[in-house]
Amino acid sequence: MEPRTPDKQILAAFEAAKGFMPADEGLALYAAAVEAGRLGLPLLEVGTYCGRSTVLLADAARAAGVITVTVDHHRGSEEQQPGWEYHDPTVVDPELGVMDTLPTFRRTLHRAGLEEYVVALVGRSPRAAALWGTPLGLVFVDGGHTDEHATADYEGWTPHLAPGGLLVIHDVFPDPADGGQAPYRIYRRALESGEFDEISVTRSLRVLRRRNGTAG
Ligand SMILES: C[S@@+](CC[C@H](N)C(=O)[O-])C[C@H]1O[C@@H](n2cnc3c(N)ncnc32)[C@H](O)[C@@H]1O
Repeated sequence: MEPRTPDKQILAAFEAAKGFMPADEGLALYAAAVEAGRLGLPLLEVGTYCGRSTVLLADAARAAGVITVTVDHHRGSEEQQPGWEYHDPTVVDPELGVMDTLPTFRRTLHRAGLEEYVVALVGRSPRAAALWGTPLGLVFVDGGHTDEHATADYEGWTPHLAPGGLLVIHDVFPDPADGGQAPYRIYRRALESGEFDEISVTRSLRVLRRRNGTAG
């Protein structure tokens, strides 16, 4: 069976949103979210930024009758701060002089007509994970890319992933020449745990499925 793809309006909203996900990886994320939605459980994203990937998760959640939960402190990752490679001066709060991607994210979702299908948690991912108590159908890890952050995201959220649920990790680069290694290390850790099977590879986006009977 061909993987489901988003309709034209959703693809346009994804393309129009600020963010870091190319279209082919977005389509792989969408296909994973549609599949995970069949479990009837919430989809969880770490790393909202301006909502580019959230649009796809939210549309898949709408189709499945579930909710996408997306977590971000909206102050940007290390590499998005002023003077760094991925800084965007248009997402700096003019009064405070610090990054704030929340208003842009809210505009993205509103324009896409998807606000009803998303619960946004504003704060640090490990703190949100520590409060969490509901099984999840999908965990998408795209937050901080240091070892500290990626490890905390993996350890905080994957115990909530239901059997058969999907763990999606972005920016997995086996070759250090291509990018930072923290996402690759949690990807290896997931595979080596024996709890996951890899089901797709699309550039730096990896989709793993939790084996039955291995939820934490
Ligand atoms: C690479 S961006 C996410 C990109 C987004 N998924 C997209 O498709 O455009 C990473 C985001 O993670 C957030 N972030 C980094 N560390 C975090 C943490 N410990 N808790 C919550 N959010 C965090 C940053 O604020 C940033 O918005």
